[in-house]
Amino acid sequence: MRYLISRNLKEPNNGIAGFLVSKFFVKKNSIIETAAVHLCNIEPDYQVLEVGFGPGIGFKEAFNKVSKGPGTVHGIDISQKSFNLANKNLKQEIGTGKIKLHLASVTEISYDSCTFDSIFHCNCYYFWPNMDDAVAELHRVIKPGKSMVATLSLPRMKLIKKFGFMQHGNIDPERYMTSLEKNGFYDVVMKTIPFEDKKVDAIIAKARK
Ligand SMILES: C[S@@+](CC[C@H](N)C(=O)[O-])C[C@H]1O[C@@H](n2cnc3c(N)ncnc32)[C@H](O)[C@@H]1O
Repeated sequence: MRYLISRNLKEPNNGIAGFLVSKFFVKKNSIIETAAVHLCNIEPDYQVLEVGFGPGIGFKEAFNKVSKGPGTVHGIDISQKSFNLANKNLKQEIGTGKIKLHLASVTEISYDSCTFDSIFHCNCYYFWPNMDDAVAELHRVIKPGKSMVATLSLPRMKLIKKFGFMQHGNIDPERYMTSLEKNGFYDVVMKTIPFEDKKVDAIIAKARK
C-alpha cells in the first residue's frame, strides 16, 4: 500500500490510490499552491508556467492575476490523471484561452527559450528524474532576471517520508538549491513564510541574465 501511494504521489494514475492522492492534494495543498502564486507577484501581462499542476489548484489564483491583461498561464504535468482532472476542474478558465495545459515532463518543455515571466511548482521537485536536466530546462524557458518559486511544507514532507510514502522521491531542499546555483539561477533562498494562518516553506531563485 505504501509503495502504491508513493508511486501515485509521484505520478497519479487512474486507480483508487490515484483518486485518493488527488483528493488529498486538493484538501491539503491549496495553501501551498496559493502561497506560490502569491510569491510570484504575477502581473496581468505575465506568461506564467506551473510545473506538476496536479488537480490544478494554483491555476485559479494565477488566472485571476492575468484575467484583466494579456497574460496567460501554462502548465505541464506527466500524469494523464492530473491532466484530465485539471482540465475538468478548470473547464471555464480554459475556455477563455488564458490557461493552456500540456502533458509533458519538466526535462522536455515544449516552449521557446525565454518565454516565461514567472515559473512556480509545488511539491514537485522531489520527483524530477534528473535534477540538473530539469533545472537547466527551466532556466532555458524563463526570461533572464525573472523568478522561480517552489513551495512545500517541509515538516509535512518529512512526516510523509517517515511513514514510508516517499519511496519515489527525494525531498532534500539542498539538492534542489545546489542544482539551481549550478544551472543558471542566483539569489537562491529558502524561507518559511506565514500564510493564511499556516506556515509555508518557499525556495525562490532568480534566473541569471
Ligand atoms: C505531489 S503532486 C503535487 C501536485 C500539486 N502541485 C499539489 O501540490 O497539490 C506532484 C505532481 O507533479 C507531477 N510530476 C511528477 N514528475 C513530473 C515531471 N518530471 N514533470 C512534470 N510533472 C511531474 C505529478 O504527475 C503530479 O501531478
